[in-house]
Amino acid sequence: MKFFIDTANLDQIKEAQDLGILDGVTTNPSLMAKEGITGHDNIMKHYVNICNIVDGDVSAEVIATDFEGMVREGEALADLHDQIVVKLPMIKDGIKACKYFTDKGVKTNLTLVFSPGQALLAAKAGATYVSPFIGRLDDISTDGLNLIAEIRMIYDNYGFETEILAASVRHTMHVIDCAKLGADVMTGPLSSIVGLLKHPLTDLGLEQFLADYKKGN
Ligand code: G3P
Repeated sequence: MKFFIDTANLDQIKEAQDLGILDGVTTNPSLMAKEGITGHDNIMKHYVNICNIVDGDVSAEVIATDFEGMVREGEALADLHDQIVVKLPMIKDGIKACKYFTDKGVKTNLTLVFSPGQALLAAKAGATYVSPFIGRLDDISTDGLNLIAEIRMIYDNYGFETEILAASVRHTMHVIDCAKLGADVMTGPLSSIVGLLKHPLTDLGLEQFLADYKKGN
């Protein structure tokens, strides 16, 4: 299972990268705005900064909602760095743009996916990643994890190679449940990654080991 961090915060990206377990980064316009990164040039520079910190794929989202605009923006994003994955919205022109980039050998991530049918279209268009938003489904009393299970079954039925990138992950249990269901990738906040470390018995056990060592030395 790949671990992506879902943020545009460089300190948090560095912290996850330093752990040695980070496989990539996802961002979106809201996450950029949260870090105060605004304006086309600043956003483009920020993507390069992120690529310079991590080794893996970095999803960069287009703003255009028409095919020509998505192609223009996606090509500019892909030219920034070879780690860039062009992130496209799950709308009709997004599917068309996905197929366009697939044919050109450019990696894609189809985002804002909330149904198995949308995920099927993403796979048909050759998306590298499909991003079902599990937290936002949970927010409206719909089982986000069930969507992961449904997409897993559909992709396995046909051997689709599109990777299931569980997005809108909010906490550690989402990560664990996605792993049980066979999501290829999860993207979540730093807390959902480092939170996996925590167990009181680990802390107590270590405390005891160190105390016992000191007795004999
Ligand atoms: O990866 C998608 C993500 O950025 C959305 O997360 O928590 O805003 O639903 P959230």
